[in-house]
Amino acid sequence: MSSNKSSRLKGFFKLNRGARIDLLRDFASLPVDQARVLGHDGALSFELADLFIENAVGSYPLPLGVATNFKVNGVDYVVPMAVEESSVVAAASNAARWVYESGGFTAQIVSSLMIGQIQILDIEPSGFESAKAILLSNASELIRIANAVHPRLLMRGGGAKEIEVKLFPQAEVPFMVLHIALDTRDAMGANLVNTVCERLAIEVERLLPKSRVGLKILSNLADRKLFRAQCRVRSEFLKPKDVDSNLSGPQIAKRIHEAFVFADSDPYRATTHNKGIMNGIDPVVIATGNDWRAVEAGCHAFAARTGRYRSLSRWTVAQDGDLEGEITVPLQLGTVGGVTRLHPMAKLSLELLGSPDAATLGKVIACAGLASNLAALRALTTTGIQRGHMKLHAKNLALAAGAKGSEVESVSNWMVSERRVSVQAAEEALSKLRAGDKAIESVDSADGVEASDKNNQSGFLKA
Ligand code: MEV
Repeated sequence: MSSNKSSRLKGFFKLNRGARIDLLRDFASLPVDQARVLGHDGALSFELADLFIENAVGSYPLPLGVATNFKVNGVDYVVPMAVEESSVVAAASNAARWVYESGGFTAQIVSSLMIGQIQILDIEPSGFESAKAILLSNASELIRIANAVHPRLLMRGGGAKEIEVKLFPQAEVPFMVLHIALDTRDAMGANLVNTVCERLAIEVERLLPKSRVGLKILSNLADRKLFRAQCRVRSEFLKPKDVDSNLSGPQIAKRIHEAFVFADSDPYRATTHNKGIMNGIDPVVIATGNDWRAVEAGCHAFAARTGRYRSLSRWTVAQDGDLEGEITVPLQLGTVGGVTRLHPMAKLSLELLGSPDAATLGKVIACAGLASNLAALRALTTTGIQRGHMKLHAKNLALAAGAKGSEVESVSNWMVSERRVSVQAAEEALSKLRAGDKAIESVDSADGVEASDKNNQSGFLKA
């Protein structure tokens, strides 16, 4: 872009918004109407956006929807999801309904500690064991010092809990690592953990005078902050209603088990399978103002903890043919502090969820991941994914061809029924529709999609 223009926009951060946008207009030769888009703030005021990040010029809206039908540990939830992918909210809602009607999800917090890391250098590997012994024999003192950094956390029942030491004598530069595990309660904890690591680094250098501390930072492999969710789905709910299928519910459950085995054995499939899980997790993490990069990094690293990248979920068939699912995921989440309380949409999303603590939020999010996974596997083992995607794609093409309002539905339904899903077909259908062609107007939501369920139109999703 702009090969002859310099990106060294010195002092950009000091400019007011108008001046920043003017500079961008010039840099990227933005037409005025494009530059105006930057001025549409929506729920997030520019003042807040500018507080959150540097060099802010506007905000980036994503659709916010709610996944319905969630029952977790006997409590009903409407789950806010911020996501651009068309089928995600409906898929989660549909699968959650099968689970709801089968009794609901159960979920637990397995462990609730965040890990901070302090890298220790300049010690010969021959001295590692004695250095480790020194650190471990001072563990209570280190924990006391860590807790003095955040006395209020301790009062809330959190704080530093454990110390461990890891050795890397074979590394290119041999080093040791001190882990401090902290319960950060309802805070995501990145700042808490990082402050504690920086404080403890001083103590480490004092206890090991020959050492030099390197990095001091939390670990996003939050394998001590794990959430688990389970569901049982009555096999009759697995049968798609809108397609002829000779498959019985128990046969579909068996196929879902086979799909799980595929993902758990083959990293190429596991990555896509887990992407389907993240389809449920990320949108809630985003809607509630949490750090989805941390959650993504943590989940994928956790999926590879055995040395092979594997499925985050497990699906099996019960004796009676019902389907049983379970997921275990590390979720670094907060419901207090930072963006969660400042971003109006994050605040609202948390209120929609009944203002949960971080533990409850994690349980609901684990269930959203399991539900999304179930929806995808049910589609993949029955109707296939493309049928539903084609309908959604057809809608996008209809919009791109200029269809407005109810025209979008008519044009896309016609393309799907004609099995001609392309830009040309959308343009042709739109011009015929506008010329009064009743044949196009009257095509019903194809493939058994009920009129009352228009926005839930993906075959991938329908029960
Ligand atoms: C698409 O967003 C997600 C899926 O590919 C997940 C999967 O294959 O399991 C449908």
